[in-house]
Amino acid sequence: MQSDDLKSLVEAALPAIAAADAGALEELRVSLLGKNGNVTLLLKSLGGMDPDARKQAGAEINLVKTQITDALLARKTVLDVAALDAKLAAERIDVTAPPRPDSTGAIHPISRTMEELAAIFAPMGFAIAEGPDIETDWNNFTALNIPAHHPARAMMDTFYLQAPEGQRPPVLRTHTSPVQIRTMLDWAKAHGLAENAPPIRIVVPGRTFRADHDATHSPMFHQCEGLVIGEGIHLGHLKGVLNDMLRAYFGVPELPVRLRASYFPFTEPSMEVDIGWSRKTGEIGGGTDWLEIGGSGMVHPNVLANCGIDPRRFQGFAFGMGLERITMLKHGINDLRLFYESDVRWLRHYGVSPLSPASLHEGL
Ligand code: PHE
Repeated sequence: MQSDDLKSLVEAALPAIAAADAGALEELRVSLLGKNGNVTLLLKSLGGMDPDARKQAGAEINLVKTQITDALLARKTVLDVAALDAKLAAERIDVTAPPRPDSTGAIHPISRTMEELAAIFAPMGFAIAEGPDIETDWNNFTALNIPAHHPARAMMDTFYLQAPEGQRPPVLRTHTSPVQIRTMLDWAKAHGLAENAPPIRIVVPGRTFRADHDATHSPMFHQCEGLVIGEGIHLGHLKGVLNDMLRAYFGVPELPVRLRASYFPFTEPSMEVDIGWSRKTGEIGGGTDWLEIGGSGMVHPNVLANCGIDPRRFQGFAFGMGLERITMLKHGINDLRLFYESDVRWLRHYGVSPLSPASLHEGL
């Protein structure tokens, strides 16, 4: 092939490439650089030339190949960018558009209760702590003063997992109390012996598990734990925190709160927490009946010691509440299973708009 032919090949190819759409561009690539493409065939023809001619023709053909390859790539880039722009424009979402009424989501009532508790406890100086759903036997039981054969273990209808060789099986935590242990261990490591150790003040909203299923029990349910440890903490602090918290949560300023003597292995003394209500009308704070909503007590010295905290210097209180229970009471929900049926009509009715955050000054 003569230089002139090469020139006209390039002169025909470059404008065609520059004007091609995606389909035409691929056809051009195949017809020029494909297995039987013009440029490929030219390169193959080099084999039959004598060395001098081959040297010159080879350089020229390779130059043409480079020009065409570059042009194909440049055009492809332009087309790709244009295609992406078109796609972005077509798929653009107008985030300022008002939501369609039937597509608005809602915060689940249990999540809402957690948000409300956070809004109540935060101004009292509590931080939120969390722990895993799968716990060690030690955190869930032993460290909480519940030894291996204690009947409280059976009472909790525990789900056990497969035990690693020669160890006690992990458990799905039966209460949020193991987060007390985790928090105290971390705290003791960081501050335990310090002269001016800061107090622990945490609440722990979270999932818990027991092998139970009826109208008032679900195998998965929620609790909120509370823990305060410091110097000189006493029962009056516990009563005050529970009073304030329950009155704010139920929106009943004079709500009667009763601590009733009870037993938990990890508190001493231990108390059930009851609120006043009317069994007949369901009114919270009305009537003369009492309803249990949680457990509480002063942290047992053994538990403090298990976590490396000196019980002669530090005291504290803990409480635990069922979140389904208080949510049902507040909203007049009579079957706990409804929380987990995912009935959209129910969720829409009892759910709360994500645009109205829980805040104390607006009332909960
Ligand atoms: N963990 C107890 C339960 O699930 C409740 C509790 C928490 C009691 C903290 C006392 C102190 O029943």
